[in-house]
Amino acid sequence: MRKLAAGNWKMNGTSAALAEVKALIGAHPAPPCEMLLCPPATLIAQMARTAKGSALMVGGQDCHPKTSGAHTGDLSAAMLADAGATHVILGHSERRTDHGETDALVKSKAEAALAANLIAIVCIGETEGQRDAGQTLAVIGRQLDGSIPAGATAANLVIAYEPVWAIGTGRTPTLAEIGEVHAFLRARLHALIGAEADGVRILYGGSVKPTNAVEIFAVPHVDGALVGGASLKAADFGAIVAALSV
Ligand code: 13P
Repeated sequence: MRKLAAGNWKMNGTSAALAEVKALIGAHPAPPCEMLLCPPATLIAQMARTAKGSALMVGGQDCHPKTSGAHTGDLSAAMLADAGATHVILGHSERRTDHGETDALVKSKAEAALAANLIAIVCIGETEGQRDAGQTLAVIGRQLDGSIPAGATAANLVIAYEPVWAIGTGRTPTLAEIGEVHAFLRARLHALIGAEADGVRILYGGSVKPTNAVEIFAVPHVDGALVGGASLKAADFGAIVAALSV
């Protein structure tokens, strides 16, 4: 399968940041993996125009489960697609925490994404307390079961394993711990969707940097990365993209 380097800009970036996108595209005309940036919704259309004709794809960071209606401030999956998005991140831990998103809500959003022909990037991950209590696999297994959409295939679903305690902290699990979780997720996906599970990209996210990308990408069942802070700079994200050549 082709690996995926995905950047999550979170609530960062105005139109001035498109200079970084131009630099990224210019430096990586034929990247060794799929390359995706998910900017704030206000930048999706501009970034998609900037990326037109290049290898860079553009995604959203959330969508509403409904197709339209009285939901002030929300965006439907079809609106993201109309703006030029091909992917949408769903159930990021920051949304689960800041907005109380449950597995059931994430699943309904993912189903809306698939209905709009977007690829759903479903995020799961344990807190530090849960890891310390030996609950990691139980927690992420429950999140996976509850969050993945009906109709999931290798083509329309990506899973991102993001330990909450590794996000923005500079700390990462050991390579063995990452390997344990990714192998567990592959097996669990098999139980849920059968042979399609072999082709579902399982990304690692949480303090991925140019300095640790090569070793993390060598772990079995790590099919790419979901990158926060290091995706804001073309040089850093480009180095992570280049590390995915294996
Ligand atoms: P950092 O790479 O900044 O740790 O963020 C990870 C993340 O949350 C990506 O969605």
